Amino acid sequence: MKIFKCEVCGHIAFNSLPDKCPVCASPKEKYVQNDAIFKESSEKSPEAEVKHIPAITVSKQCGLIPETPCVDIMVRIGKTMHPMEEKHYIMFVECYQDDKYISRVEFTPLSVNPAACFHLKNGSGKITIVENCNIHGYWMADVNL
Ligand SMILES: [Fe+2]
Repeated sequence: MKIFKCEVCGHIAFNSLPDKCPVCASPKEKYVQNDAIFKESSEKSPEAEVKHIPAITVSKQCGLIPETPCVDIMVRIGKTMHPMEEKHYIMFVECYQDDKYISRVEFTPLSVNPAACFHLKNGSGKITIVENCNIHGYWMADVNL
């Protein structure tokens, strides 16, 4: 799979370049292709896997949005919780449906846990979660709904 990274905001695009970055609106010239970006992180710090690979839980009984058949994608980083300290923290989590970007949650280090929830209107297909640690780089996980 082709993987592109926006050099301005760190957004990841799968398969093809967007015309402009959906997060920071930078032009596509700001993207750099790196198909091994996830592999590089796990090779650099294999012992860090347990604290970085997103742990995904799917809930089809959402209580927050009862008006629609909402499907919750709940994410924590990672199986052993990742630190959230000024010097070492999760910068953002991005969510994709069938490789198409749908949402991002950004974090500040001190007040929040490394976790996010995405409330999908259409709970089908493959969901991919990408996270970016300020020290250990990019990690991902996916789940089929
Ligand atoms: Fe980390």
